[in-house]
Amino acid sequence: MIRKPLIYNYNNVLAHNVGNRTGISTEEILSYERRTKRIHESLAAEREGGTLPFYDLPEKKGDLKEIKKLGEEIKKEMGDRLENLLVIGIGGSSLGGIAVTRALCHPFYNLLPHETRKTPRIFFAENIDPDEITGLFDIIDPETTLVNVISKSGSTAEPMANFLLFQKHMIDKIGEERYKHRVIATTDPKSGTMREIANDLGLRTLKVPPGVGGRFSVLSQVGLFPAYMAGVDIDALAAGASAMVKRLNTDDLLKNPAYLNAVIHYHLHIKKGVNMAVLMPYSTALAEVAGWYRQLLAESLGKKFAQSGEIVYCGQTPIKAVGAVDQHSQIQLYREGPEDKIITILSVENFKNFLNIPSLYKEFEGISYLGGHTLNELFEAEKRATAHALVKSQRPVLEITLPEINPYTLGQLFYFYEVQTVFAGCLYNVNPLDQPGVEAGKQYTYSLLGRKGYEDVWKKEVGPEESDPTYIIR
Ligand code: PA5
Repeated sequence: MIRKPLIYNYNNVLAHNVGNRTGISTEEILSYERRTKRIHESLAAEREGGTLPFYDLPEKKGDLKEIKKLGEEIKKEMGDRLENLLVIGIGGSSLGGIAVTRALCHPFYNLLPHETRKTPRIFFAENIDPDEITGLFDIIDPETTLVNVISKSGSTAEPMANFLLFQKHMIDKIGEERYKHRVIATTDPKSGTMREIANDLGLRTLKVPPGVGGRFSVLSQVGLFPAYMAGVDIDALAAGASAMVKRLNTDDLLKNPAYLNAVIHYHLHIKKGVNMAVLMPYSTALAEVAGWYRQLLAESLGKKFAQSGEIVYCGQTPIKAVGAVDQHSQIQLYREGPEDKIITILSVENFKNFLNIPSLYKEFEGISYLGGHTLNELFEAEKRATAHALVKSQRPVLEITLPEINPYTLGQLFYFYEVQTVFAGCLYNVNPLDQPGVEAGKQYTYSLLGRKGYEDVWKKEVGPEESDPTYIIR
């Protein structure tokens, strides 16, 4: 496993490369130095005061021990019968686990034979799509399944509905006693409905650390237990994050890539109208890291109110893209559409495999040039070519390079983006840890389903006529 630091390259966001309209000058960057020092100091004080516990997750060795102990206990109990791990959760409770396992497991992990995998197939029940959930019933045998239900609040409608459904599915087949040994609840250590249910049923539990919101929980038991069960080296993941803890422990803007990344995004957003932030890994394995990043940015920085109470309608729109596939879907827009995007390319220096493209069809000049090259060379060439084309069109491009996709580099990347996001919250002066905008929709749903205390919310809001039929075409 290569244990090297991520490389952060901001050459191509500089005004002398992409022009003044969409770029940032070195003087502009340096103008944030004093503010950076102030924010660094206040974040350090908050961290010290215990209000930002996500910062210290990489050092929580006890949590890793608990995960391993529980994981081994389950493997011993279930032995070869452990064929499926079903993770029930949504948003921050599932996106981290999805990102880690997709990045670090075999690309077709679930399709590998049991003897090759040696660890259970992994499924995530996130959505409440009845066809998808029925599909899961079809392929998940309760006899061979472990469920990990994850909910910090323990009352989010989607995971709770799926939890109830799978509980019935499992109990019908294996009975309540055996079911109880097949569920791990990851939830708040003290409070919440899920905690109460777990206590009542006597379920084994893991914890969502107090004060750590879902989208900052990938390096806690939330993201790490599913990863461990799928065979990921969670010590290396934590070690990578710890290395980033050290790297980011400086108030020197030019030496702190997370702060610099926040400053560049913030400045281009506020001063140049660059209101979209694309994350485009040139790697299929990292596609879901872009999904995780999208939620982290959107829920943390998309805010109506500043901390001062002023209305600000803040936040860049994060976009998930994947190279080279999205060259054939989105690059046309990124190059020639509005000048409102900053694109971060996630590069991988060393892939696990090299594939030589066969030299065939010498008579066809249109494809014969491919022969003799590796697929790796083609991937690299396409990435460089796309970045250059974007820069030529004066579109700001950042590049973050992972020496290799492995737990150590991934741990660095998660921590890097978490710190960047919290720092950006300070630049915008919004609270990156809350998500009040999600509340209204939740309350309307409760009302529509008749939850006690919410009966009238919907009627008061919408009245008897939800949509004027005049404007509906059938
Ligand atoms: O990041 C967040 O805080 C949210 O996305 C939550 O993780 C998500 O709403 C699920 O919440 P809970 O874990 O309470 O079920």
